[in-house]
Amino acid sequence: MELDQQDMVNYSPLMKSFTFNAYLVAGYTPISRASPLDFYINRPGGMKGYILHMTLRGEGRIKAGNRYIASCQNDLFLFPPGVAHHYGRSENSEHWDHLWIYFHPRPYWLDWLRWDRLEDSIGITRLQDAAFTAQIQAGFKEVIQQSSSDELLSEALAMNALERLIISCFKLQPLCNHQSIDPRISTLCHYISEHIVDDLSIVQLAEKVFLSPSRLAHLFKNEMHQTIFAWREQLRVNRARNLLQSTHLTVSQVSQAVGYDDPLYFSRIFRHHAGVSPREYKKRYERMISI
Ligand code: FCB
Repeated sequence: MELDQQDMVNYSPLMKSFTFNAYLVAGYTPISRASPLDFYINRPGGMKGYILHMTLRGEGRIKAGNRYIASCQNDLFLFPPGVAHHYGRSENSEHWDHLWIYFHPRPYWLDWLRWDRLEDSIGITRLQDAAFTAQIQAGFKEVIQQSSSDELLSEALAMNALERLIISCFKLQPLCNHQSIDPRISTLCHYISEHIVDDLSIVQLAEKVFLSPSRLAHLFKNEMHQTIFAWREQLRVNRARNLLQSTHLTVSQVSQAVGYDDPLYFSRIFRHHAGVSPREYKKRYERMISI
């Protein structure tokens, strides 16, 4: 195997006290029978973001609806937001070592997150080709390393590596492109992201795509697994993180730049998503920006 296992364990967020409120967290979970990590994950409501998994060794057992599916070496599993996570080491395997990435996608990634083979909304891709397997593993490793570094722009580099990884996974789909997201919803996602400071109402948004507000709300939830406003809030917070990390803008300037007139309200929302206040978040990177 190409990866240096000890290295990956050192990078793993599981080794630190960790909040999954971030928009990109990645790690390596080496599970052996009766080891401390040998427990069954049980998240009936799933998570707010996506999870991409790759099995490196042994076998995992993943519940998809009423079925159990084995995740064997070089298998990829993609859990969309809100889909239950029930998985752990298969009883008949001594190990289940896997890599994983938790993330909130950029709007234009959404079409690439629709895989051909689905089991109860969970995407499954079994890697056959050795060269592809090495490429995908290297992609995971880069995302894990960048996302756990606190160097300047490391989050941007992690997202960049993740984007390439997601495109590579999508290229492996035999029907590639056949099930794109409803164009009205992707148009709106782009529109909202271009007009992030505007407080567009559901009525205004619905007019843009010639739908009734209730039809739009329903369709959006179906396609994106969350409401329009929850999605926009996440987008705003993610953009705020980028600005805090890589510019000299103050917290209130960032608050304005992402569409919140009231910096106190912005701080509350930001803390809810990122686990720390924008001020604390900015401090982590201040020293590096001033170098
Ligand atoms: C770890 C699991 C991994 C993934 C992350 C979010 O504990 O080992 O599969 O679910 O949590």
